[in-house]
Amino acid sequence: MKYIKIMILAILMIASSVVMLFAKDKVLTQIRLDELGASPCYIQDWGSPQVNQSVLGTPLTVNGVVYKHGLGAHSISRILLDLNGEAKSVSGLAGADDNNMYAGKLQFKIIGDRKLLWSSGVMRKGDAVRKFNVSLFGIKKVLFLVEECGDGIMYDHADWLDVSIVTSGKVVPIPVWPKSVIKNKYILTPKASEAPKINNSLVYGERPDKPFLWGIMASGDRPMSFKAIGLPTGLSMDPSTGFIRGKVEQEGDYKVVLIASNSKGTDKKEVLMKIGDKIALTPPMGWNSWNCWGLTVDDQKVREAARMMHDKLYAYGWNYVNIDDGWEAAQRSSDGEILSNEKFPNFKELTDYIHSQGLKFGIYSSPGRTTCGGHLGSYQHELADARTWEHWGVDYLKYDHCSYSEIQENAEEKTIQAPYIVMRDALNKVNRDIVFCVGYGAPDVWNWGKAAGGNQWRTTRDITDEWNVVTAIGCFQDVCASATAPGSYNDPDMLVIGKLGKGWGSRMHDSYLTPDEQYSHISLWSLLSAPMLIGCDLGDMDDFTLNLLTNSEVIAIDQDPLVSPAHKILTKEGQIWYKKLYDGSYAVGFFNVDPYFVLWNQEEAQKVQEAQYRFAIDMKILGLQGKVKVRDLWRQKDLGIYDSVFRTQVPYHGVTFVKITPLNK
Ligand code: GAL
Repeated sequence: MKYIKIMILAILMIASSVVMLFAKDKVLTQIRLDELGASPCYIQDWGSPQVNQSVLGTPLTVNGVVYKHGLGAHSISRILLDLNGEAKSVSGLAGADDNNMYAGKLQFKIIGDRKLLWSSGVMRKGDAVRKFNVSLFGIKKVLFLVEECGDGIMYDHADWLDVSIVTSGKVVPIPVWPKSVIKNKYILTPKASEAPKINNSLVYGERPDKPFLWGIMASGDRPMSFKAIGLPTGLSMDPSTGFIRGKVEQEGDYKVVLIASNSKGTDKKEVLMKIGDKIALTPPMGWNSWNCWGLTVDDQKVREAARMMHDKLYAYGWNYVNIDDGWEAAQRSSDGEILSNEKFPNFKELTDYIHSQGLKFGIYSSPGRTTCGGHLGSYQHELADARTWEHWGVDYLKYDHCSYSEIQENAEEKTIQAPYIVMRDALNKVNRDIVFCVGYGAPDVWNWGKAAGGNQWRTTRDITDEWNVVTAIGCFQDVCASATAPGSYNDPDMLVIGKLGKGWGSRMHDSYLTPDEQYSHISLWSLLSAPMLIGCDLGDMDDFTLNLLTNSEVIAIDQDPLVSPAHKILTKEGQIWYKKLYDGSYAVGFFNVDPYFVLWNQEEAQKVQEAQYRFAIDMKILGLQGKVKVRDLWRQKDLGIYDSVFRTQVPYHGVTFVKITPLNK
């Protein structure tokens, strides 16, 4: 018996050492990052990572050297791989791709199980590649991260080159996002009162002798009647619509009392009409066709948008109906006049209709030979086009750089600015006030957009309805915030809420942003004094979308006449943004941006999304002393009187948006 036991023990010992030997000798292989393909798990804020080519589809090239293998990513991007603890090391190179017109600063990082393993340090286009070779011993998950470096330039093309992982196991791409916990589209704002409430901005600017079109914008039951006391000579108001039209000859500041009455009551509001050299004294609010209809926009769709704006949104301050690209005919007339295509049979009639609804009309073009969508641009026809638009009754122009880069290749500020000055001069020669939007987010445009005569300038590339894109765009706007002033706005692009097109113009879908993300989006844009251009199909808005767009207290933050720059504070749980308001109050937004953007375990997903994130602000930061009143803007509800610190909890990717008013001013 004893011998049998000893024999069994010996057999077991031999067997286990064989297993160990086997384990020790597990074959190590090299797996290249590009061999894993372009996984849908990878996330970046523009385009998608490309295998063996740059994000633009050109050969991977850094500092003049072409590489065969790698991933062409973007900044910001996140690539998370499951190594199952079986990898030994990773080596490779990282660098900014040469093929990039608007490059800024970026940084590559490799993170293993939440610990930083390697960082490239700040890099730029033209720098030589930086090498890495780091141990992955015991690491379960590795993250290849590319970050912005705070210069506000978000066009960086980030190449991971010849990346090779030595492992005895598998390497599997895994998602960095939690699977979204489906939350109802919950409505925070109480229904507007049946009695009239005038929602006009407190200040409005036009130039002398230009066609004037504004009106009393009031929510409440219809029928409603309107009056205005103190209108400057030259203007008159239609008492049944509240539309104010005419021309004012005399420059000056006019205090006008607007009055709206219905069977439930009367509301009065004093506003300042400034007839001088400035227009758009508060950020333009309206609709743009691009994010729902793309190039398929047509006359009917625009009329429908105008009808909806008039019926549902005008009462809250929305009044621009803007056609983006896709209206232009393929050829000019024989005398060089720009024409509309068959989708717009008669522009003059369309604009007359839009104006008859008390609304303003916007159009789109490019300083290049063609627009971004490949239609005719205004190159060498600037004055002629401005005159055509004057005749049609255009009130707003979005002017997108695009193919001008074929005319002038260098990307110097002055070169990009030049054609905008040409168009501004042309617009100044016509007898209309035309808001001028310097399009297509050239880097640092906020340094020269105003001097080019812009009323607003796109500070970013195109937005999409994904949280990583909305935050990548929105959260860096502090870099340019100081350029904001009455009549001059940073434009972080359109509002991606409601029903949008996928690839703009097709496959209509509900915004991919969660309800909390949509509350955050509108709150942040209001804090930024951003032009508010709705991107969705106005004919198909649900109650939630309407609620987002018709909260007069939130809109009043965007339209605050001080147009004071917004400031950002980073906290453990997210970001706090604040701006000063004309009455000495502050608007403050507490945002849970993305502390768990990289989910190391999908099991955490539910927990993370259902958590509440804690924020606090000390009134000293706002320069306030003594007691303050805090009001929740989305709920339109007073939260109470606070002494020095206000605390709040915020849902995942959500916001608490408040107005803080000192009691002793
Ligand atoms: C893009 C622009 C979009 C849209 C499009 C039209 O460059 O950023 O907002 O206007 O052109 O082609």
